[in-house]
Amino acid sequence: MAKEEKDNIVVGLDIGTTKICCIIGELNPDNTLNITGIGQTPSKGVRKGIISDIEATIEGIKKAVDDAERMAGVEVAAVYAGITGEHVKGINAESMVAIAGKNKQVDQADIYRVSEAIELNAATQSDRAVLHVLPQEYIVDDQNEIKNPLGMYGSRLRSRVHFITASVAREQDIVRSIDKAGFFFKDFVLQPLASAEACLTYDEKELGVVCVDIGGGTTDMIVYLDGGVRHTAIIPIGGQKVTDDLAIGLRAPIEQVEEIKKTLGCAYAPLVNELEEVKVNLIGRKTERIVPRRVVAEIIQPRMEEIFGFVQKELKDHGLEGRAAAGVVVTGGGALLSGIEEVAEKVLRLSVRVGYPIGISGLVGVANSPIYSTAIGLMVYGARNRIVGQPLQQARTGGGFGEMLQKIKHWLDNAF
Ligand SMILES: Nc1ncnc2c1ncn2[C@@H]1O[C@H](COP(=O)(O)OP(=O)(O)OP(=O)(O)O)[C@@H](O)[C@H]1O
Ligand SMILES: [Mg+2]
Repeated sequence: MAKEEKDNIVVGLDIGTTKICCIIGELNPDNTLNITGIGQTPSKGVRKGIISDIEATIEGIKKAVDDAERMAGVEVAAVYAGITGEHVKGINAESMVAIAGKNKQVDQADIYRVSEAIELNAATQSDRAVLHVLPQEYIVDDQNEIKNPLGMYGSRLRSRVHFITASVAREQDIVRSIDKAGFFFKDFVLQPLASAEACLTYDEKELGVVCVDIGGGTTDMIVYLDGGVRHTAIIPIGGQKVTDDLAIGLRAPIEQVEEIKKTLGCAYAPLVNELEEVKVNLIGRKTERIVPRRVVAEIIQPRMEEIFGFVQKELKDHGLEGRAAAGVVVTGGGALLSGIEEVAEKVLRLSVRVGYPIGISGLVGVANSPIYSTAIGLMVYGARNRIVGQPLQQARTGGGFGEMLQKIKHWLDNAF
């Protein structure tokens, strides 16, 4: 039987390639948000961000939610889920309508019509669904860079947006897994959008910033300029490839090299002292071998350079080189690799910082890791939905997007 949804509970469910993570948040009467539960379990049915084994994913969801419920002491009824994978496509689109408001003044109906026109113009195929329509700017006649055109005078209203679609089949796999695990599915949020929500500041988005979430299976990127989303891309390589390289290069078991990567790995070889050593067990042998730590870094570095090379190519191909004045924020589990800032700076030639979730309260110590950026961002989206009290789809498409974001940031900042 479906559990009853409580008004003050919001839940983010990140179904990742290496882990399934559930974060429970409680909305206080003053609209502050507390993290009260975290549950996490290894993900066994996801490849490159896409569900490849529904049964294994259902079990993982049950376990992650169960653990989070026990920590929070509440029952979860409904969840907000992340979505990623190569099937997700983002494009910049534009539409125009005649201003029909009284005295040629833009009214709410004009704003809805211009957003709606984008979806109609974009003519999505039946096997694809609209995931997000993210406003960039409005233009009234020749006046551009308008965030909220309500009440402005003119004859033509144009809207520029970043328009994201996803495969209906891949969406259904997620919805079905959540449903079979016994929870109500609330809505989707693109994973890098959720991560960015959790780690970026308002100023970074205004100045221009590239957020890169390096997970196990994919590296997701999102670019903000002037407060709006300008580009999104899903690169099908992540931290698992680094581990595979180490297993091949060191001829050692995956579990062992994963541990070596996390504790002694470095993404930028010049940072490693040449005299440092690492003990490695060869596959099938009991004896240990001593390997210079510099050699481990020399295996990791080219793969990380390749990943940031793809990020660089995306920026170049979309005319975004040199546009992100606030630099790059790297998050996700891959951001925990030592030397990540140095290698990213070398390839991208921009200032780089590691993105930790900001503006959270409650289990801050436990949740304070780039690994939780996506799940926390999903919860923040859910919380906004509750406060503003409108379906997420409208919240995503409506003109008041930036305003809502500010409101949430404001009460999250106050909660800290
Ligand atoms: N301390 C660490 N140092 C280096 N790498 C790490 C560290 N901790 C985790 N990782 C790597 O981060 C990756 C997992 O990151 P994350 O939890 O963000 O992935 P995910 O969300 O499950 O996957 P995806 O987003 O690709 O679906 C793994 O490849 C893991 O090896
Ligand atoms: Mg992830």
